[in-house]
Amino acid sequence: MNILSSNDLDREQIEKIFNLADKIKENKEELSLKENSILALFFEKASTRTRTSFEAAITQLGGKGIYIDAQTSQLKRGEPISDIARMLSSYCDFIAARLYSHSDLVSMAEHSSVPVINALTDLEHPTQALVDMYTVLEYKRNPKNVKIAFVGDIATNTANSLMITAAKLGASMVLVGPKGYLPNSTYFNKAKEYGEITFTDEIEKGMEDVDIIYTDTFVSMGQEEEAEKRRKMFADYQVNSKMLEYANEDVLVMHCLPAHRGEEITGEVIDGPKSIVWEQAKNKLLIAKAVLLFLSQSNR
Ligand code: CP
Ligand code: NVA
Repeated sequence: MNILSSNDLDREQIEKIFNLADKIKENKEELSLKENSILALFFEKASTRTRTSFEAAITQLGGKGIYIDAQTSQLKRGEPISDIARMLSSYCDFIAARLYSHSDLVSMAEHSSVPVINALTDLEHPTQALVDMYTVLEYKRNPKNVKIAFVGDIATNTANSLMITAAKLGASMVLVGPKGYLPNSTYFNKAKEYGEITFTDEIEKGMEDVDIIYTDTFVSMGQEEEAEKRRKMFADYQVNSKMLEYANEDVLVMHCLPAHRGEEITGEVIDGPKSIVWEQAKNKLLIAKAVLLFLSQSNR
């Protein structure tokens, strides 16, 4: 089994991953992988958290991570992803890949004999969505009573994955972004099959009854050439104290990080009392371990 997309996990499987994360957190059982398990971390784009949390996770579970990047591997000189996948999977037990193109990730999985984990592509960030919903449920126990507002770049990879995972767990969502800028219709329509999801360009309306405000960068990796245009386009959708005034008093603020203070979120909000971004970031290690354990159990 692979985790290429948030669509790859049904509700039961998401809950299984969360139960494993709970067990790790409570330290109730000795959980480990097959001795000397190897995780290849094949990264074409930068990463602080995802790389480190997966490397720490495999190490703490008794295995080892091997990091390979585009610059120092033969990918840069044109080696096909399919050949890389064949070879990596003959050395390693898992591959976590962060690639520009989602179709390259699909090709990697087609040519791999071991589980492939999406560590972010242009379309999705499924392990981040698991981290996000696990964190939401730590604060708001019943997902059916949770409404999440995703604000800013509502068509980004983190939005696509969160829509699916949140809807599968029963949470409702509103996407709040500029007029004429639409969510990815494939993910939006899929999320609609599972739960309540809407989008609006009106901030005040978007904040109605919202329990969680979530944002991400206005300029994702690979969009650097459009940076100026995107910063202008999303400027009104900055998560700031004025926006928070429209939401519930006990609203919580999340961000997948890295954050750009003064752009998609103010320093006052991300470093303020409603922000749970550090707990969210911390949970990446728990979820990385839970995902590796889940895949090892699913592929036995
Ligand atoms: N949230 C996240 O994926 O962070 P990194 O880009 O640092 O891995
Ligand atoms: N949307 C962001 C997420 C970073 C974790 C990006 O793709 O750069």
